[in-house]
Amino acid sequence: MFSLAASRRIEQTVSEKLQRAVTIDLTVADIDAMHERAGAKWSAYDADVLSATIAEMDFPLAPPVTEALREAIDRSDLGYPKPATPSLRRSFARFAARRLNWTVDEEQIVLVPDVMIGLVELCRVIAAPGETVAFATPCYPPFFSMLPEAGVKLSEIGLLPDGSLDMDGLDAALDAGARALVLASPHNPTGRVLRLSELEAIAERCAEREAWVLADEIHGALTLPGATYIPWLEVSDAARRCGISVTSASKAFNLAALKAALVVTADPAARDLVERMPSLHEHAGLLGVIAAEAAFDDGDEWLDAVIAQLTANRDLLGRDLADKLPEVTWGPPQATYLAWLDCSGLGLGAEPAEVFLRSGRVALGRGLDYGAPGAGHVRLNFATSPAHVSDAIARMAASIRATDI
Ligand SMILES: Cc1ncc(COP(=O)(O)O)c(C=O)c1O
Repeated sequence: MFSLAASRRIEQTVSEKLQRAVTIDLTVADIDAMHERAGAKWSAYDADVLSATIAEMDFPLAPPVTEALREAIDRSDLGYPKPATPSLRRSFARFAARRLNWTVDEEQIVLVPDVMIGLVELCRVIAAPGETVAFATPCYPPFFSMLPEAGVKLSEIGLLPDGSLDMDGLDAALDAGARALVLASPHNPTGRVLRLSELEAIAERCAEREAWVLADEIHGALTLPGATYIPWLEVSDAARRCGISVTSASKAFNLAALKAALVVTADPAARDLVERMPSLHEHAGLLGVIAAEAAFDDGDEWLDAVIAQLTANRDLLGRDLADKLPEVTWGPPQATYLAWLDCSGLGLGAEPAEVFLRSGRVALGRGLDYGAPGAGHVRLNFATSPAHVSDAIARMAASIRATDI
């Protein structure tokens, strides 16, 4: 017999599907309205500045996330989080299987406040004070500022002209005793997605020298069409033996304020290492856990729309650069919403972002913050409206004209 409960379930499914069919709204407010945001990306600059700096998106949040957060506030549910709950672990494992081709062992997921704290505390467990941790430069700037909080020394490895890791540099760092490689995969600031052969070679070298790979995979879910991101723990046995993934919903779903990230392992030795970290879940945010679960469970459609918009924005950026700033060179990113632009051809010196801000009123990532190879570069965040992308390039071009005068 057809039960009332079954009929309610069907009604619910139909209404959920209808809700999902509503077009995802990624409208970005104008600059004045964006400046009302309290976050550093916009509030750090004067009201006339177009900000394309910090890696966060200008789009409205995913509706399932907004709804889950509103419900939590309506329940006055703002207490402390538990360790990674079965439901959070299940949500992430399903998301990883569905979207990233990654089979995650739900028992090997630990909650931490954010990716950087996860990396710092893992470095503290892996390396004795004064020992070395390596990473590729240009790099996400907090690798320079935060990893030393673990008492470690830093070793920089270069990227080859095609953006891949310099394997001779990796060998040299490992031979000199590096205890771990922090590997941003996909890479920030270049947005490059690493190939399987490169990942395998890195894993072999690190496993052979008993060095750990801390795979910072926060941008993985933002891989754009045409590229295939391979999660570190899917690379090879060697990668699983020597590797730990640190990831979060915060980049793909724009939740940096909420403080919830995940450390994931796939090998007992790696799991033991994670267990030696101090328990960090008390420092994570419950709203971050709630939002992450909603995002992993119900955020696919929003994320698909965001990826489509980012792809269109990346292409628009290419056209605008070719048209207005042909001297600027770049490799269009395969993931993320960050464009690493080589502006050396413009003759603006080592830190062109200063000229663009001063004369063009557009704020961009300052190349040297990403390490010495960043001289002459800027990082442009294109997770915004097409109008703002074009405005950013127009402002950059106008500042060149102003500088010429
Ligand atoms: C490569 C990379 N790692 C880590 C982070 C920061 O992550 P969290 O805010 O979780 O520390 C970012 C933020 O942009 C990033 O690009």
